[in-house]
Amino acid sequence: MIYYFSGTGNSLYVARHLADELGEKLCPMTLGIPSREDLKGAAVGLVFPVYAWGIPNVVARFVQKISTLREDLEGAFLYAVMTCGDDMGYADEVLEKALGRKLDAAFSVLMPDVYVCLPGFDVDSKEECKEKFAKEKETVPEIAACVRERKQVRRLKRGPFPWTKTHIIRPLFNRYLVTDKYFRVDASRCISCGRCSKMCPVGNIIVDEIPQWQSHCTGCLACYHACPHHAINFGKMTQKKGQYNLMKQLYE
Ligand SMILES: Cc1cc2nc3c(=O)[nH]c(=O)nc-3n(C[C@H](O)[C@H](O)[C@H](O)COP(=O)(O)O)c2cc1C
Repeated sequence: MIYYFSGTGNSLYVARHLADELGEKLCPMTLGIPSREDLKGAAVGLVFPVYAWGIPNVVARFVQKISTLREDLEGAFLYAVMTCGDDMGYADEVLEKALGRKLDAAFSVLMPDVYVCLPGFDVDSKEECKEKFAKEKETVPEIAACVRERKQVRRLKRGPFPWTKTHIIRPLFNRYLVTDKYFRVDASRCISCGRCSKMCPVGNIIVDEIPQWQSHCTGCLACYHACPHHAINFGKMTQKKGQYNLMKQLYE
């Protein structure tokens, strides 16, 4: 079984590819936790994006729930596939801490970057996206081979200064920037289509003429990227930034 979380489609894309390679089933992390039967002796995959060189809070909540099935989890081959735009720091160790056990294998897969809320961060160019998808095509079958062989491996792009990023910058990022309070809607552009609400993977948006966020945001930016009129912005920071629309391709 492969459990996944995806805000803007990259991790869903990778999870689907891996599930096809392995002949496994997919289950969203937001739809409950595995049963004891699902875990016994099985290969259990966790596929999700890296956020601030750590894990999304939705993923932390999911793994804290499955850590209560500790005995059954011990017998499973537990592996993580983390998608990231650039580098992942010690996100695998953050995951292990939340899980209360070591992973049997861990991989990072470079995918188009969707983070746009700070100066200097923007979506990748078409060329960069193309290169990342071409690499993904090679990497995922290699991951599948490791899982089939139950190989204890780590193939991770930690990047420069991984400890500082995960242990110093991440807590600050989570404290000040994982919030929906900075989202603003340009009412002259919003057509009340409800796409932001439909795409929000944690059901955090109600559209009553314009979108209203309900304060349990996981920070994925699905609403920002899905808006067909670029009517949603994160403060003023994203007004001139690009959008990334893989979810649209995956579902339409
Ligand atoms: C809040 C947030 C934080 C991110 N932090 C990182 C990061 O620390 N390192 C990185 O390489 N990419 C980072 N990214 C980019 C995503 O990890 C990457 O684009 C991922 O593939 C998105 O997956 P998804 O489309 O399944 O949501 C971040 C994206 C968001 C929205």
